[in-house]
Amino acid sequence: MHDTIVILDFGGQYTHLISRRVRELGVYSEILPFHASLSELEGGRVKGIILSGGPRSVYEEGSPRVGREFFRWCEEGGIPILGICYGHQLIAHVFGGEIERGERREYGRTILYVECEDELFRGLDVVETVWMSHGDNVVRLPDGFKVLGRTEGTPVAAYANQEKKIFGVQFHPEVAHTSKGLKILENFVLKICGCRPTWVVESWVDEAVKEVREKIKEGGNIIMAVSGGVDSTVAATIIHSAAGDRLHCVFVDNGLLRKGEAEEVIRTFREKMKFKNFHVVDAGDLFLERLRGVTDPEEKRKVISHTFIEVFERKARELEEEYGEFRFLGQGTIYPDRVESAATSQAAARIKSHHNVTLPERMRLRLVEPLAYLYKDEVRRLGEKIGIPREILWRHPFPGPSLAVRVLGEVTREKLEIVREADAIVEEEIRRAGVYEKLWQAFAVLLPVKAVGVMGDARTYEYVVAVRIVESLDAMTANFAKLDWSLLERIASRIVNEVKGVNRVVYDITNKPPATIEWE
Ligand code: XMP
Repeated sequence: MHDTIVILDFGGQYTHLISRRVRELGVYSEILPFHASLSELEGGRVKGIILSGGPRSVYEEGSPRVGREFFRWCEEGGIPILGICYGHQLIAHVFGGEIERGERREYGRTILYVECEDELFRGLDVVETVWMSHGDNVVRLPDGFKVLGRTEGTPVAAYANQEKKIFGVQFHPEVAHTSKGLKILENFVLKICGCRPTWVVESWVDEAVKEVREKIKEGGNIIMAVSGGVDSTVAATIIHSAAGDRLHCVFVDNGLLRKGEAEEVIRTFREKMKFKNFHVVDAGDLFLERLRGVTDPEEKRKVISHTFIEVFERKARELEEEYGEFRFLGQGTIYPDRVESAATSQAAARIKSHHNVTLPERMRLRLVEPLAYLYKDEVRRLGEKIGIPREILWRHPFPGPSLAVRVLGEVTREKLEIVREADAIVEEEIRRAGVYEKLWQAFAVLLPVKAVGVMGDARTYEYVVAVRIVESLDAMTANFAKLDWSLLERIASRIVNEVKGVNRVVYDITNKPPATIEWE
C-alpha cells in the first residue's frame, strides 16, 4: 500500500498538474471530487490532502465546499491539509477569516516576499517568483493562523496553522513558473505529511500485472482492440504478461492509417512481442464505402466509430465460435481519461476505447484497464521498463478517426493516397532533421481546393496540402513550430515533386487556441 496524497478537485484547471507533481516526488496521488465522502478517505493510506484551485468565489451561492466536519476528521487523524488558490480561500473562509472580492485580477508571474521560513517554505529565499491567477483575496486570517508570505497585491499570499497542520498558498506551486514550486510541494508531501516515496516504475509493473491476474482469476478469455498507439500497446502487454494466450487482440485496419503503419503494428505484435492470438481485420473497403458522400466532420467521426464497433463486434463473435466466450474486455484507458474535472462533471468515471467509442453494453464484458491509474508519462516509463519498442512509445499522437480528419471534405481513395504520401514525407524530413521527439505532432492535411501552378511550360490545377507542425505539452494549448525555413522548403518541394496531384504547400501558422491542432 503506497502512502497517498488525495487532491480534492474544486474544478481548477491545474488539478491534474498538482497530481502529476506529487507523483514526480515518488508519492502516489489520487484526484477525488470535492464532495467525496469521508469513507473514501479512510483506511490509513491517505497521508495528506490538497484542496485544489477552482473558478468560483467562496461567497457565491452554490460554490463547492468542504465543511468543518472534514477539517475535524483530518485534525483527529493528524492529516495535514494544503489549500491552493480557491482551496486557500475556502479554508480561511470556513475557519472565520475574511475574503474580499479583488478589484482586479492578479495574474502571471509575481514576486513573493517570504515572511516566515517555516516547514512549508523551508529552502526558499526571502524573495521568490510565483505564479498567480486569482481575483479574490484573504484579507483577514482566522485565529491560530499566521502569514507566511505576501505579494504586492495580496497581503496573505500564504499561511499556516501549525497546530492543526493546515497550510494555504494563494499562488500555484504546481506550475513551472513558480520557481520553487516543487520544493514547496516536496516540503508538504515528504516532510509535513511524512510520505514515503515508494511510487516508482518497478512497483507499477508488478502491481499492474498482479491486479490483472487477480481480476481474471476465475478464468475466461479477454478480448481487446489495439491500435498500435502507446496506451493500447502497453496495456495489451501488461495483460499479456498476466493472461498469456487467453488474451485475444483485434487490430482493425480501417484503411485510413499512415503509410506502412498497419504492417508495422502487425510485425511488432506478432514478431517482436510474440503475441500468438493477434487478429487482423482488413476493413479498409467497408470504411471507405460508409464514408462515401460524407463531408461533415462530426458525421465522419460518427460513421467511423459506428463502423468500428460493427467490425469489432463481428470479429468478436467469430472468435467466440472458435475459442469460446469472452468474459473480459481489455482497454488502454489512462488516468486523465477517467477523472474529469469537477467543473465539467460530477461523475468521476468515463470509459473510452482506443478509438474513442464506447463499446456497447450488450457485450456485457468486464473491463480490464491496467493503466487506469497512470499518466501518459508514466505509461511511457512503464512501457520502456517492459521493453516496448521506442518507435511506439514516442510516436506522435494520432487521432482515432485517423487520416479521415486530415482529408477535408469527402474521403476518397485518391485523396487518402495523396495525404498518406505527403504525411510520410513530412515525418521523414522531421526525423531526418532530428526534431521529431521535440515536437508534439507533424502532419499533412489535404484541403478540398485546387489552385493554379506551373510545371515546366504547363499550367497546373491541383490540390493544396497544408502542413501542420506543433509544439505542445498536453494538447490543451499548442504553438506552431518555428522551424528552419530550409527544412520547410525541403518538405514543400518534396511534396510537390513526389506526390501526384499536389502543386502547392502551405504552412499553418496558427496557435491553439484559437485554432485546433487537427483541421477536420
Ligand atoms: P485538437 O484538434 O482538438 O486535438 O486540438 C487535440 C489532440 O487530440 C488529438 N485528437 C484525437 N485523438 N481521437 C483521438 O484519439 C480523436 O477523435 C481525436 N481528435 C483529435 C489530436 O491529434 C491532438 O493531438
